[in-house]
Amino acid sequence: EMLLCKKKDLKGKKVLITAGPTVEDIDPVRFISNRSSGKMGYAIARAARNRGAEVTLITGPTNLQPPVCVNVVPVKTAEQMYNAVMEHFKDVDIAIKAAAVADYRPETISNVKIKKNDEDLLIKLVKNKDILYDIGKLKTNQLLVGFAAETNDLLSNASIKLQNKNLDMIVANDVTMENAGFNYDTNTVKIIKGDGQVIQLPNMLKQELADIILNYIIELKIKR
Ligand code: CTP
Ligand code: CA
Repeated sequence: EMLLCKKKDLKGKKVLITAGPTVEDIDPVRFISNRSSGKMGYAIARAARNRGAEVTLITGPTNLQPPVCVNVVPVKTAEQMYNAVMEHFKDVDIAIKAAAVADYRPETISNVKIKKNDEDLLIKLVKNKDILYDIGKLKTNQLLVGFAAETNDLLSNASIKLQNKNLDMIVANDVTMENAGFNYDTNTVKIIKGDGQVIQLPNMLKQELADIILNYIIELKIKR
């Protein structure tokens, strides 16, 4: 019912959100992935939808219910996510990249189950393209928001990503904090704006944080 009272301040805006992990197969029974649950990205997708946006959610495999009234694009690998983002990016007003994209993938995927033997197994990993870096270069009028997952030197690491990837804002996530990060319903983050201003937020529900992130994005849009 609260929703009915809320201002539809994203009405008519197209918002692209990525969420969840990517999954890189090694063989038919094994893969490389990460601890991302997708909860933060899905929360942003729901919040943006509730505020009137036309939302596309490009998501790696998660256990979450796909949000209704959102264009959900399921992908598995980093390469598939790259292609899906490239297809949608030019049409959007705001892109928010909450996905935990695999930085590396196995150079080859075995068609058959790799058998154990007496030696060590070496799997060569090759680098995936950085989706956010590439759309940072393509950016025209879009507002571009990234996430940084860090275990140490949160602000300096996140600030470097903000600069290098040509972002308007980054949400810096210390994944070692209690009740924050991977798989929790709550999160503690710092938001760094393009001008270097840092907003330190308390631990809160990801769904509340989603609305706060959108507030700051809308503020950037108005200032433009
Ligand atoms: N990202 C991306 N494509 C990749 C890797 C990361 O789009 N191949 C995006 C993520 O979605 C996130 C941001 O870049 O919004 C930062 O991701 P993160 O893993 O924290 O940083 P990296 O630049 O990959 O650096 P590192 O993992 O070494 O800290
Ligand atoms: Ca990474």
